[in-house]
Amino acid sequence: MINKYFSISEVDPRLYGSFIEHMGRAVYEGIYQPNHPSADEQGFRQDVLALVKELKVPLVRYPGGNFLSGYNWEDGIGPVAERPKRLDLAWRTTETNEVGLHEFYEWAKKAETEINMAVNLGTRGIDAARNLVEYCNYKEGSYWSDLRKKNGLKDPLNIKTWCLGNEMDGPWQIGHKTAEEYGRLAAETAKAMKLVDDSIELVVCGSSHSHMPTFGDWELEVLEHTYDYVDYLSLHQYYGNQEDDLDNYLARSLDMDAFITGVTAMCDAVKAKKHSKKQLNLSFDEWNIWYHSNEHDETVKPWQVAPPLLEDHYNFEDALLLGCLLITLLKHSDRVKIACLAQLVNVIAPIMTEKDGEAWRQTIFYPFMQVSNFGRGTVLKPLIESESYQTKDFEAVPYLESIAVLNEEANELVVFAVNRSRELMDFAIGTNGLAIKEVIEFSQLSGFKIKEVNTKGVEKIKPVQSDSYTLEEAEINCQLQPLSWNMVRCLLK
Ligand code: AHR
Repeated sequence: MINKYFSISEVDPRLYGSFIEHMGRAVYEGIYQPNHPSADEQGFRQDVLALVKELKVPLVRYPGGNFLSGYNWEDGIGPVAERPKRLDLAWRTTETNEVGLHEFYEWAKKAETEINMAVNLGTRGIDAARNLVEYCNYKEGSYWSDLRKKNGLKDPLNIKTWCLGNEMDGPWQIGHKTAEEYGRLAAETAKAMKLVDDSIELVVCGSSHSHMPTFGDWELEVLEHTYDYVDYLSLHQYYGNQEDDLDNYLARSLDMDAFITGVTAMCDAVKAKKHSKKQLNLSFDEWNIWYHSNEHDETVKPWQVAPPLLEDHYNFEDALLLGCLLITLLKHSDRVKIACLAQLVNVIAPIMTEKDGEAWRQTIFYPFMQVSNFGRGTVLKPLIESESYQTKDFEAVPYLESIAVLNEEANELVVFAVNRSRELMDFAIGTNGLAIKEVIEFSQLSGFKIKEVNTKGVEKIKPVQSDSYTLEEAEINCQLQPLSWNMVRCLLK
């Protein structure tokens, strides 16, 4: 049952953000490949740009990731021929710096997206960070802003959202820090960055995932130092079906749900302790499924330029879990204001490219595309009746996962739903305070073999339309196929 007045929150469009890291084939052979037949005059692949636009991604985090913690942003500005080749210690590859800040900014404009810029707090610190803000956002008349103009960008880039480092709790991180070391550095860096431009918003690093041994203590200590100076706390989490247990795998979104609830509570505990009036929101700036490529990546020879890395080929069950994860993010849209599907092209990505061929859509492309395109407006809290099941890791997993979004501008109500069960499910969408005029589309992703994947040129796994539903003024009745991702879009009276 959906009630017009039981709303969770307006969706911040940045909930549908993504991520491009300088690693693997994300940048080179991904978004940029001057010798590709579809490359434009700046070397950007137009086939990739077209698919990125289909996803309607409003924000892209850049340039990392683990790569960030050894990166000198100055290596990526000025004449390309003079830029240094560097060893990237995070992924043990060679970075040519052919693409840097200016090129990525040009790409982002073409992709109709904003940049979520990250500053290196691994090998670098306050000075490099405040200089980068000056370079990007200060109009003119200072050393770094004038250098930007000299390098060809007359107007400031006006980058609004910034990350204070990446996964600084992780021992694998270059320049890994304790919570106290990071908390102090992040606070002082935040202060300096906001002194340059007080309109920017800052994301401070939470834990790299919820099972880190320091999880919880890290958040509380980092916030103790930074609460007053930052705007969001980050969460990262990847899921996998290593055990090949479908029921347990599809329940992983309950883990994401508990993770968000727990981190929200930590923000609010620090708020209360500090008697602060400010509410800290969350940036889930890395989330996805990541495990298919692990074995392959062990075999990659070091120091290559843009070798294939983290190239997960997603199957049908992955698309179902991704749908559950998207619904979970929407359920928490009152606190999760930014989220980045990690990543966007080739590296654990919805979009893949062939070096000498085309770009194509993975299975996970479709639920993301539908929610990003149509899940705009106000999230409504549905009252759901569903039976549950138990798995190895979860007590009570509802067979039905669902959420509704009211788009008042388009006069549309959109319902997203996953049927986790292996049976047909009767699905009644009852509404209160919302009169439905017609069903615009009832789209289903279902009926595929659970391990089936899309490949280049064969995008078999994609949603199909169904006209099998009945509509009365305040209720739609349909059936959800076993193991299915569904979207019902309705025009309101
Ligand atoms: O997205 C791949 C990697 O996952 C990122 O570089 C890092 O931040 C995370 O561990």
